[in-house]
Amino acid sequence: MSFLRSRFVQAVLVLVIAFVVLRFGIQPPAPWSVLTLYMSIVLLAVLVFVSSDSDSWREFVRPIRATLISPDKRRARLGLLIALPLLFGYYAYTQAAAKPQAPPELRAVHPAPPASMPFRGKEIQITGLDNPLRKDQATFKKHVAAGAEIYIRNCLYCHGDNLDGKGHFAYGFNPPPANFQDPGTIAMLQEAYLFWRIAKGGPGLPKESTPWNSVMPAWEDRLTEGQIWQVIVYLYDATGQQPRRWEESH
Ligand code: HEC
Repeated sequence: MSFLRSRFVQAVLVLVIAFVVLRFGIQPPAPWSVLTLYMSIVLLAVLVFVSSDSDSWREFVRPIRATLISPDKRRARLGLLIALPLLFGYYAYTQAAAKPQAPPELRAVHPAPPASMPFRGKEIQITGLDNPLRKDQATFKKHVAAGAEIYIRNCLYCHGDNLDGKGHFAYGFNPPPANFQDPGTIAMLQEAYLFWRIAKGGPGLPKESTPWNSVMPAWEDRLTEGQIWQVIVYLYDATGQQPRRWEESH
């Protein structure tokens, strides 16, 4: 075991043992960035130790020097000359090589609604449908107030009291509840679209919206047709947004 007295062997042994302990002795395994940090600290400590006095340092560098210059180490030199570039080359290759990646999840946030849909035993035509509550200005405010009550009873927990999608339950859901203040939601949608989404909810989303685990409930069995239109006018009134209109051709 005389080789154990060599400073160089000692240093290498400490590094190897430290690596094995840090890599396999810690559960759950530490990430590589942490491992490299710890290994750098160990390396520094080893260097401080072997260079603590000049005898020790000379002893440490002797085998390295010998490998580099002494004539009888020609084989070892040649081996290193081949092995080191291969090792670095392999490392560079593993860093640069393209890795197989899961395809990104593309999903339609606002899929096209069906042209018509069943609602409580009758068929409702969605294309070209306007909110009937907007026809009579005299009763409009009443419908907004009724919509507010429906919203507070049913939608607040998810869509939030500021209609910004930050209700109490919102943080548990992915995708998160829609933020109606965001100009990317109800402001660019027709009211008939909202009617469809509120009636059929997450379960009613078509295939192009998968993989969606939308928790948006289907309200068709709980709210009447009139109540759904009321909560819709409330959404626009409370956020100050305007619904998108059907194009003239309809
Ligand atoms: C359990 C939580 C939850 C409740 C309660 C809930 N929603 Fe939702 N809602 C969601 C989530 C999540 C989304 C986003 C995913 C999606 O579009 O299905 C959403 C989306 C919507 C959208 C679609 C917005 C867009 O930009 O496409 C509308 C409209 C909507 N909700 C209205 C309502 C109304 C009105 C109520 C109450 C009657 C309600 N929601 C109650 C969770 C909820």
